[in-house]
Amino acid sequence: MIEAIKNNAAQILEKIDYQVEIGLILGSGLGVLAEEIEAPTLIDYSDLDNFPTSTVKGHTGRFVIGELSGKKVIAMQGRFHYYEGYSMEKLTLPVRVMKELGIEKLLLTNAAGGVNANYSPGEFMLISDHLNFIGDNPLRGKNMAEYGPRFPDMTEAYSKDLIVVAEEAAKDNSLLIRKGVYAAMSGPTYETPAEIKFLAAVGADAVGMSTVPEVIVARHMGIEVLGISCITNMAAGILAQPLDHSEVVETAERVKADFIKLMKDIIKK
Ligand code: 6GU
Repeated sequence: MIEAIKNNAAQILEKIDYQVEIGLILGSGLGVLAEEIEAPTLIDYSDLDNFPTSTVKGHTGRFVIGELSGKKVIAMQGRFHYYEGYSMEKLTLPVRVMKELGIEKLLLTNAAGGVNANYSPGEFMLISDHLNFIGDNPLRGKNMAEYGPRFPDMTEAYSKDLIVVAEEAAKDNSLLIRKGVYAAMSGPTYETPAEIKFLAAVGADAVGMSTVPEVIVARHMGIEVLGISCITNMAAGILAQPLDHSEVVETAERVKADFIKLMKDIIKK
């Protein structure tokens, strides 16, 4: 594992002659932000040895490295999900690689279902905390002591300082932004109405199938994390209508311009 991580980092370093500061993981339909990166170096996941490859339509699989809002960034255009069949360890390998490249902060985005009935599709939510209902943990197994402790503290998984920065960015761009708890489910089914009622009762505001594994691994290594959900649809049973992946794609497309504006300003700040 460690060999694969160091090898991937070396493969990437051959193509860039600067240090990256910020990692970006772009969720379903939100990969457009990578198109804004200046003087980009593109590295397809398939060109990296022993690197996972994406299986979902609409998820490009590559790193886009360059400058965004004056900062050196490495973006994952396309991420890996537990429901695709990867082990937790495999799907979080890119986060370890980005750490080897020198990132100190990680911005994660995702498309999520609204569990909080006050939310509406098209809104953004800063993740204040999470519930891991995937039923697995990427740190299970022998601890990689060179990266972090056996029992990482998760009290401030999502940086309070970065949340303040994101709130300022939203305000300066006249964008409404929510703040809430993200529940991660394994998928690939969407939840039942009973499951969504349960999630609401235990404090979830949004639900999705990603982000939490990467956050756990990032926190293991002491990386500061900011998580942003795009509420693309309401979760099952909240509205009297079935769920459809096309709604996720359409909403992400609709809010694209606001998303780019918000993310660029957060990175600048
Ligand atoms: Cl409703 N559930 C899950 N698990 N993921 C989603 C979603 C719902 N909407 C978008 N992604």
